[in-house]
Amino acid sequence: MQTYLSLGRCAAVLAAFVLAAEAAKATSLSSRASVLRALSAGDKLPVSLENIETALLALEKQRGTPGLTNTVTEIHKMVTHMESMVQQQAKLTQQTLDQAWSDFTGCQGLYEAGSHSGLQSVDSLAKEHAACRLEESGLKIELEACESELTARTSSEEQRKNEFDALNKFPVAGFCSHRSSSQDYATVRGYIKHFRDHFASHLNSWEGAFNASSTAAKMKLQKSRECYGEDQKRDGKGGRDKAYESKRLDCQKLQTKLEDAACDRIAHRTDCVAYVMCYQSNYKAFFDAGQAKETALLQSQKQLTEYRGLGRIKCVLDSYSKYGDGDSLTQSISDCQNVDANQTFFQLALPDQKKGAMPADKTGCLSKDSAEKPGTQAFSQEMYKKLIEKDDAVHWTNVKEDVLNCKGRCCAVEATV
Ligand SMILES: *[C@@H]1O[C@H](CO)[C@@H](O)[C@H](O)[C@H]1NC(C)=O
Ligand SMILES: *[C@@H]1O[C@H](CO)[C@@H](O)[C@H](O)[C@H]1NC(C)=O
Repeated sequence: MQTYLSLGRCAAVLAAFVLAAEAAKATSLSSRASVLRALSAGDKLPVSLENIETALLALEKQRGTPGLTNTVTEIHKMVTHMESMVQQQAKLTQQTLDQAWSDFTGCQGLYEAGSHSGLQSVDSLAKEHAACRLEESGLKIELEACESELTARTSSEEQRKNEFDALNKFPVAGFCSHRSSSQDYATVRGYIKHFRDHFASHLNSWEGAFNASSTAAKMKLQKSRECYGEDQKRDGKGGRDKAYESKRLDCQKLQTKLEDAACDRIAHRTDCVAYVMCYQSNYKAFFDAGQAKETALLQSQKQLTEYRGLGRIKCVLDSYSKYGDGDSLTQSISDCQNVDANQTFFQLALPDQKKGAMPADKTGCLSKDSAEKPGTQAFSQEMYKKLIEKDDAVHWTNVKEDVLNCKGRCCAVEATV
């Protein structure tokens, strides 16, 4: 690129030199060559420029001679080649600028606020979940109370049954036989008294023990059904057991939702950070001083200047080939000073100036809450313990184990609260 620039710049100098040379015909060829070298000092002269210099000197020497046409054709070719190089460079400048712009607008793709559905819901889900866990704890307390009553009733049933069993016995064999030899039953009166003493209160206590035993059994059954439902099994399918278990499942689902929402918030933040970094760095790369836009404008300006210079050289060459020598040539060369190039090619299209081209600045996404990862102490403290413990630490104890078992799709592997 540097070579093209030098070429173009020197060509412009050359053009000025040709015009000046025509105005002062007295100037010697050798001093003209040294002026040329002085003017282009500091720039590394490309080989083709040396050729132009040689050709230019030959042009002046050949003025009015038959060799002129060839020389003009030769130098014309070189200048045309240089023109096309400047045009190529102008294309490259536009491409570089368009690429920088496309990089900048491409940052938009890194972040889509709408794709993060959990963003707003974390806090409300945390509250909903905490309320659910409190209900769960309450149901656990009720179930446990039911179970401890059931234990009491079970042992009461056992006791009443034993008491009844003790009474529910036939008298020993021979109890009814009359033993006339026995002193006790020596008389009928004695015999009847024996039965009366033995049985008078017996029916009543037998019935009482029977009633107590069957009542205790009924009460145990009733409590067992209350705790576990018809099947009386602790399988989560009936009674207080079911109420607690189904609440626990509900809460687990809520917890999963909450933790997934937190995962989404983390993903959002990751996207957002990537977007902001991209946006800010590519914004600078395009708009800052000395960056893409300014550089392109400067380059484009230089290219146009170079192209104009080359155009004037061509104009002079055309004059030579048209007039060879004489006053018409002098007039025509002088007119070349007013010739301007077709600038259309060098009109830089600034992509940021197109209507609606400037992308929305969404860097505000960073101001949204930062997010802890589910499974971390900080997350459990904030989202669970603080909310669930409320006034009664027993609630936290009741649900702690389940709650600290992280259920989201981005769980951290870390210690518990
Ligand atoms: C036993 O229960 C029956 C029926 O409920 C009742 O009629 C009877 O008086 C009860 N007996 C005792 C001793 O409690
Ligand atoms: C300038 O060049 C463009 C193509 O680069 C062409 O379309 C246009 O007609 C030219 N204008 C003149 C005045 O020659």
